Amino acid sequence: MKKKHKELANRFSQMATDYDDKQHNDEYNACASLVIDHADPRPDDVVLDLGTGTGLIALALAENAEHVVGRDISEGMLEKARAKADDGSIDNVEFGDGEFRDPQYDGEVDIVVSNFAMHHLPDEEKREAIEVIASLSPRRFVLGDAMFFGSPNPEEPLFGHGVDATTVGMLVDELTDAGFVVTAVERVHDQVGVLVAERLEIPQK
Ligand SMILES: C[S@@+](CC[C@H](N)C(=O)[O-])C[C@H]1O[C@@H](n2cnc3c(N)ncnc32)[C@H](O)[C@@H]1O
Repeated sequence: MKKKHKELANRFSQMATDYDDKQHNDEYNACASLVIDHADPRPDDVVLDLGTGTGLIALALAENAEHVVGRDISEGMLEKARAKADDGSIDNVEFGDGEFRDPQYDGEVDIVVSNFAMHHLPDEEKREAIEVIASLSPRRFVLGDAMFFGSPNPEEPLFGHGVDATTVGMLVDELTDAGFVVTAVERVHDQVGVLVAERLEIPQK
């Protein structure tokens, strides 16, 4: 693992025990709800959650999907996710090591989701991540994250250190270049949004 990822993974592992008890801001919670709603898996769908953390999105989607795969670089966050799955007797999820540009999963994927994680990548790596996601041929990719709808006021940053947000326009361009059609743009805040990207040519099951 690259040094940069190792440091970030360690930082999240140290936070993992208390992560779910932390007071997340309203934008984070609204974003998570929209990602879950837009993912909308069918009972025979396989869902891949990138930057799954403690499994907030993966575990919520497991109820309606056939199988959910959560990937993250932080072993501490993954351990917490596995413990939550065990506590809830949710047995159609698997959590394991994987990075956006190398998810370590080569099975079939119908829906890819990611909530509040891709902002850890610099812009060039976001583009590469979107290309990797497209190469998995999901019919839908739902991305909730920090993203700029306009020009953010530098006096009023919503997020601090570690958030490398990009513009909605740039993400839409990258998704389109990778072969997706952006079918919904949800503005949660002028610095937070959810994008729904679909591969309309994927045959229906
Ligand atoms: C703010 S948490 C969000 C977790 C979860 N998606 C949620 O909504 O609660 C960000 C997560 O992204 C993970 N992460 C950061 N960079 C990553 C990368 N390059 N590949 C995969 N996961 C990454 C972190 O380890 C952390 O668990």
